Amino acid sequence: MVYRKVTISTKVFENTNAIVAWVSGRPVLLSKYEGKYYAMDAVCGHMGCAILDKVEGKEAVCPAHRARYDVTTGKKTADAVIRPEVKCEYNEASDTLKVYPVRENNGFLEVDMP
Ligand code: FES
Repeated sequence: MVYRKVTISTKVFENTNAIVAWVSGRPVLLSKYEGKYYAMDAVCGHMGCAILDKVEGKEAVCPAHRARYDVTTGKKTADAVIRPEVKCEYNEASDTLKVYPVRENNGFLEVDMP
């Protein structure tokens, strides 16, 4: 395990339940749910272009087409919403986004990422 320190104070989560940080060169959604911290890839599995930064309960919601992912497991909980009259060749969203172990160390978060 290689825990990388994220220079984000846990105090940030007094005002929000989620934030995007760059860890090991990739956007990672850091969130807090029921007192625990979670880290998940922040790029939507549908078209790969949207940064997930909004979390409702334990679900990250893609701003583009509303696909949802459970931040505790990375599993997709709702498909992208595409207008049926518009053909979309990308309507097969990834079912799971990668999640990473997170720990708190002296008031800062650390994420175990390669
Ligand atoms: S890019 Fe996220 S649902 Fe389409």
